[in-house]
Amino acid sequence: MTSYKIHPAVAEAVRGFSCPASLGFGAVTAPVMYSVEYRNGAWGQGELLPYGDIAVPPGCKGLHFAEQIFEGMKAYRFEGKAPTLFRPRDNWARFVRSAERMCMVTVPEHLFMDGIEAVTGACAPHIPTASGQALYLRPFAFGLDPSYTIKASDNLRFMVIGSPVEAYATAPMRVMIERHDVRAARGGVGVAKTGGNYAASLRSSTLAIAGGYHVSLWLDPETRGNIEELSGMNVFAVIDGVLHTPELNDSILPGITRDSLIRLARHRGYKLVERVMNMEALLGDIRDGRCSEVFACGTAAIVNPIALFGEADGRTVPLPSATPVASELRQALLDIQEGRGSDPFGWIVEV
Ligand code: COI
Repeated sequence: MTSYKIHPAVAEAVRGFSCPASLGFGAVTAPVMYSVEYRNGAWGQGELLPYGDIAVPPGCKGLHFAEQIFEGMKAYRFEGKAPTLFRPRDNWARFVRSAERMCMVTVPEHLFMDGIEAVTGACAPHIPTASGQALYLRPFAFGLDPSYTIKASDNLRFMVIGSPVEAYATAPMRVMIERHDVRAARGGVGVAKTGGNYAASLRSSTLAIAGGYHVSLWLDPETRGNIEELSGMNVFAVIDGVLHTPELNDSILPGITRDSLIRLARHRGYKLVERVMNMEALLGDIRDGRCSEVFACGTAAIVNPIALFGEADGRTVPLPSATPVASELRQALLDIQEGRGSDPFGWIVEV
């Protein structure tokens, strides 16, 4: 017995859906969505619906004050087995922390899991099975109160939508070092997965893409000297054979893939240091040949090598093209996520 309603048109929406051969990232929309509202102090009944437009009050705070949070996670299907999720309760826990930082109503674990499992279960026949592909799940919540006062909403909508995807980036990335804008302030909301952080990054991404780069790298908001993250990805470097990654602070998003790679790397015998990482020092290490690889990771990106760092004016510092550590960790992570290897950390949950 499910605790949510299933709209009568869901079965037809799923039957009528066909996945195109080329997926990209976020270009294909899964045929169903889950929705539930918190109104007058209580959660209503969740519903699985065909994917479609929604009606919200035009004055709602989700639209005006960016009172919004989201998660990114994936469902996998391997060799005719039931679909699986990767560390879904860690996504829920981060969703709760994001809600608390944004002063939003928190979504209880059972509703979060209902939404994830409802969309995954209905879309099971359409979860792509090639390695690196998955059903990307996007749980999100936003304030519904239509008022222009600066006060947290009492009413909220929580939804889950999905998209059959391949990895966010499929080639080594050209990364522009952002020297002017900052993604998030000290004491701000960088640690929360909230839309405003991504909105703040769009000017830089636009400039980066126009300059022939794929993404921007953010420096810390105080000294503008230390590496924080790429928009939507955390960063690792291999220096003298040791893995280094920026230590978490209140302006870096604590990636679940980042945490998984730290544990996996240590489990596989790598020495790994979480520390403040100065950008100029890293560029020096690359030029001197001490830094052999830099790579990015995230739910969407999986593990993706960085081909070069560059400036807005076009000057670049290239990295070696061989990336054995990134390749090894990517494969080890995918082996767990896609059900090929053992799961020593108990990260996989069957739907
Ligand atoms: C993710 O990796 O899930 C992200 O949210 C990154 C990006 C696509 C926004």
